[in-house]
Amino acid sequence: MEGLAIGCLLWAAAALGAADGEIASEASPPPVTNFSISVKNLCTIYWQWSPPEGVNATCKLWYNSQLGEEKIISLNNFRTEEVALNERICLQVRSQCSVVSTNPSAAVQMCTMPPEGDPESAVTRLRCIWHNLSQMNCTWLPGKKAPPDTNYTLYYWYSPLEENLQCTNYYTEGQLIGCSFDLLQRNVSGSEKIQIMVTDTARTVRPSYNITWLNSVKPNHPIITALFLHNNSLYVEWESPENFESNCLVYQVEVTDSQPKKYKVEESKCHILQTPQELSEKSSVKNCLVINQVERDVQYTVRVRAKTSKYCFEDTNLWSAWSPEKSIGQKTDSTFYTITLLSIPVAISISTLLLLLYLKRLKIIIFPPIPDPGKIFKEMFADQNEDTLHWKKYDIYEKQIKEETDSVVLVENLKKTAQ
Ligand SMILES: *[C@@H]1O[C@H](CO)[C@@H](O)[C@H](O)[C@H]1NC(C)=O
Ligand SMILES: *[C@@H]1O[C@H](CO)[C@@H](O)[C@H](O)[C@H]1NC(C)=O
Ligand SMILES: *[C@@H]1O[C@H](CO)[C@@H](O)[C@H](O)[C@H]1NC(C)=O
Ligand SMILES: *[C@@H]1O[C@H](CO)[C@@H](O)[C@H](O)[C@H]1NC(C)=O
Ligand SMILES: *[C@@H]1O[C@H](CO)[C@@H](O)[C@H](O)[C@H]1NC(C)=O
Ligand SMILES: *[C@@H]1O[C@H](CO)[C@@H](O)[C@H](O)[C@H]1NC(C)=O
Ligand SMILES: *[C@@H]1O[C@H](CO)[C@@H](O)[C@H](O)[C@H]1NC(C)=O
Ligand SMILES: *[C@@H]1O[C@H](CO)[C@@H](O)[C@H](O)[C@H]1NC(C)=O
Repeated sequence: MEGLAIGCLLWAAAALGAADGEIASEASPPPVTNFSISVKNLCTIYWQWSPPEGVNATCKLWYNSQLGEEKIISLNNFRTEEVALNERICLQVRSQCSVVSTNPSAAVQMCTMPPEGDPESAVTRLRCIWHNLSQMNCTWLPGKKAPPDTNYTLYYWYSPLEENLQCTNYYTEGQLIGCSFDLLQRNVSGSEKIQIMVTDTARTVRPSYNITWLNSVKPNHPIITALFLHNNSLYVEWESPENFESNCLVYQVEVTDSQPKKYKVEESKCHILQTPQELSEKSSVKNCLVINQVERDVQYTVRVRAKTSKYCFEDTNLWSAWSPEKSIGQKTDSTFYTITLLSIPVAISISTLLLLLYLKRLKIIIFPPIPDPGKIFKEMFADQNEDTLHWKKYDIYEKQIKEETDSVVLVENLKKTAQ
């Protein structure tokens, strides 16, 4: 009994404390009403609500809306967001009587419907790259459970467009499927993102969404316009790729003699105008690199690539392709080297052979051939009849078995036998 009484007292004290707090701040208004949601374009979500009913006249209403971790406190009774609708997206709204309130209303929540279809049928790795500020290429991998003969369709939308457009130029790139469409910079000026959705014509695969920022761009490759050696320095000059101002790009120059070396060029200062005859005049935007203390009798091969800089775009890692190579310096003919290398062993072999032949001839002159004992034997018996010869042969054979190694003895024996 006593324990319970103490418990009740404690509860009462806590309740009083809470009430004191409420009085110190403002009263909590009722939750918002008439909460609705709509989706425009491909994934622009528009939430709207009405003020709560029966609010104290002293309360100036603010709305606290929360999407994931992102909280916005505003006087507006709506919120618009571009969200890739690959899952259920929910917004929670609370009303409160001041900007910084410790006592908002209860939350009201409104969510989008998740896309229909098996999640494993949806395309994966949906990714778009804006090339040359003129063409958007989007690629994806088919979902695990998508039928192999699926006919994909890609829709896109960006800010000034009135309706979603459908991409028509589909292609495959190994495992990847892609579609590309024209996207000129002037058509998206003011727009920050582009909304993409990939599904199929039969609507059997689950739609996939992506929102691509228009600040990650892959430029075309630069073009080397001049490369020359002057006063022990190597000068490289190139043209910015189309559609880009020079200061919006960062360059990488690769110079190869025996080993490739890379130079980063962020701001090119051309101090090489004292040799105008060698510089190309046609390029309005000149970029250059001077490498001092180079050796003259070495061949240098140079190529350049570009990516967007953080001053105009997002600093991505989307390097352009390398420019075509240019070379300068003493040309070391590689075929000449190959022939030389190959001819060395061949020459050695031939001269060795010649030497051997010569030595053999020499040997014959110095040491005349030793007479063949067999020949002498044959000559000796040339006039003997067949039978004797047969017998002799046999005898020799026997002796040969006994005294194989001692040919001198054999010849002596033969001579004896012959007599
Ligand atoms: C609810 O919202 C709709 C428009 O979104 C509006 O026409 C209607 O009057 C609102 N109802 C109330 C009770 O505020
Ligand atoms: C409005 O709030 C004030 C204090 O915050 C309170 O004194 C007053 O009674 C409230 N009026 C109504 C109608 O609730
Ligand atoms: C780069 O874009 C320009 C227009 O902005 C276009 O004329 C040119 O053909 C494009 N170049 C390439 C290689 O796509
Ligand atoms: C895809 O298109 C081709 C040709 O238009 C058609 O033969 C095929 O049945 C289509 N596949 C599906 C899954 O609709
Ligand atoms: C972009 O797509 C087109 C096909 O429409 C293709 O010719 C081009 O090579 C693609 N660009 C890149 C960098 O993949
Ligand atoms: C791009 O903008 C030009 C005008 O600047 C317009 O004529 C053209 O129709 C636009 N293209 C697209 C695809 O919106
Ligand atoms: C869009 O695709 C890129 C590249 O795969 C990814 O980094 C990004 O998170 C995607 N964006 C959304 C909103 O899904
Ligand atoms: C060439 O180099 C020498 C010494 O390095 C220097 O004195 C001279 O001014 C240079 N000439 C030019 C045209 O740069």
